[in-house]
Amino acid sequence: MCGIIGVTLRRGCLGGNAVPLLLEGLRRLEYRGYDSAGVALQVCEDGSCSLRVYKAKGKVEEVIARYGLDKLEALTGLGHTRWATHGPPSDVNAHPHLDCRGEIAVVHNGIIKNYASLRKMLEEKGHVFRSETDTEVVAHLLEELVASGMGMLEALGELVKLLEGSFALAILYARDPGRIYFARRESPLYAAIGECVSAVSSDIPSLLHISRDIVAVEDDEYGYIGPGTLELYRDGRRVDWRTRVKRVEWSVEEASKGGYPHYMLKEIMEQPRAVYETLVGLLEDPAAVEAAGLLAGASRVYATGAGTSYHATLVFKHFMHVYAATPVYDYISSEHEEYESVIREGDVLVAVSQSGETLDTLAAVKAAKARGARVVAVTNVVGSTLSRIADVTVYTRAGPEIGVAATKTFLTQLVALTYLAALVGRETGRLDEGDVGRIVESLRRGREAARSAERLNPHIKLLASILLRGRTRSMFLLGRLLGAHLAREAALKVKEIAYLHAEAYPAGESKHGPIALVEDGFPVLFVGTPGVEKRLYSNMEEMKARGAKVIVVGVDSYGDAPADYKLLVGSYDEVAAPYALMPPLQLLAYHLAVLQGYDPDKPRNLAKTVTVE
Ligand code: AGP
Repeated sequence: MCGIIGVTLRRGCLGGNAVPLLLEGLRRLEYRGYDSAGVALQVCEDGSCSLRVYKAKGKVEEVIARYGLDKLEALTGLGHTRWATHGPPSDVNAHPHLDCRGEIAVVHNGIIKNYASLRKMLEEKGHVFRSETDTEVVAHLLEELVASGMGMLEALGELVKLLEGSFALAILYARDPGRIYFARRESPLYAAIGECVSAVSSDIPSLLHISRDIVAVEDDEYGYIGPGTLELYRDGRRVDWRTRVKRVEWSVEEASKGGYPHYMLKEIMEQPRAVYETLVGLLEDPAAVEAAGLLAGASRVYATGAGTSYHATLVFKHFMHVYAATPVYDYISSEHEEYESVIREGDVLVAVSQSGETLDTLAAVKAAKARGARVVAVTNVVGSTLSRIADVTVYTRAGPEIGVAATKTFLTQLVALTYLAALVGRETGRLDEGDVGRIVESLRRGREAARSAERLNPHIKLLASILLRGRTRSMFLLGRLLGAHLAREAALKVKEIAYLHAEAYPAGESKHGPIALVEDGFPVLFVGTPGVEKRLYSNMEEMKARGAKVIVVGVDSYGDAPADYKLLVGSYDEVAAPYALMPPLQLLAYHLAVLQGYDPDKPRNLAKTVTVE
């Protein structure tokens, strides 16, 4: 997820230089996580303007120092912090991007799903591309539309119809001094309009030093700002925005959390968009097909990861067995020595790591490569170490995850791994195109399913307070098959941020020992995935018979479950169910932590990325 900002200043105001405001806005975007930064300045002399672009891989301060940006002057400019999704971090892939003539500069947050076909069409018309990004097609497309005789505003209206996917765009046009054009779909975009200075940004924090009176741009709206002006349109018709001005009283830090008290809660609530953008990116990504080909031709398939990423490999195994009838040997990456004597040439290892920097997982990958195996990486960070040592890399597009506990990165890993299993099923002939289409449709439902967090948040908070009132210090989280894997991930969340002992195992195992632990009021939470209802019910009965407090977080078919507390997330098939079930389970851990006074963003003893063995 990138950060974008545009600032335009009325001549004679605030010392007549917008650059300090632009750079301050850029600094306030840094919290989002990024790998590159850049600015474009509109410099006007003797009645004509040109665009000057300064950009590079690296931190904002490094880019400012490299080009001496804090010594430059301009009335209008754009800024960008890049979180790479298409093309590795590099100077040339950094934003802003220009058209062929250097008259149009673009910064973007989001994913342009149909960029490949647009780029092909534009190259056939003679446009020369400099970067590997999806964003650059916007600059050349606008160039093409303006060259056909349209003004920039009309061209933007056409652009919105032509682009598929998500975008928050800010655009400078050399021939329109003082104006910043914009357009928005899916990716947030806000405008701040002041007499002296106006601005647009993907983030509220980077506007608050300019104005606290904010207008949220809505999907498929476009237009432009100037000092003291905002022109807003949809489908060629002007939109009245004056009733939409909201006064934002947040501090910068509160605003960077989107108004949520913690990054973890913000990231749980961001999951619908993260799931959507990951799927959109995957459907266009040749690497997914290449990875499936490798896996389909493998002698044996292994999967590894640490923590949450290991739990994602368990779900991968489940769907590879169900859809591709391909056995997957999965192991925790710090235990990779156990497989050294068996993994060999012809095998393929799927390595899952959201950071792409976990030392245990990198060690497992290097060991497998040393034995001649090929490696498919699934990671959230373009250009990460894992992506550079793997043979093929499939990217999730969760955006930067700031909370130490993995939430949206886990769900986006499931999107990538489930899709991969479906493609392997097709490669091995187990699935036909219709089957794959149905799986993709279920994955598309993941976006709406993940809104279960918003829907159930009050109920989950109440459940957490009931558990704490019952002086819970330990609990079981159980499920069967896929549900047991999700239960493991839920248990990890409870342990790592609420500091309560939580044990997960397959529900059928209870009678083989663990049930001895159960006494009056002992909480046992069941993850209710579709297809195992009756068998889970008997597990619930056996727990209730021993005095347990039985909780179900399940799909709607668990409406008649013999439980003390039931939280039903909606009706979903096995592919879509994890996206509805995990957010409430993540929220349970979150509320258990916060109600005990802990900071869920910075749990004790833990780091976001474990770069030690
Ligand atoms: C999960 O909430 C933890 N933050 C931790 O287990 C994490 O999943 C693990 O360290 C692996 O990180 P990675 O995905 O970046 O490799």
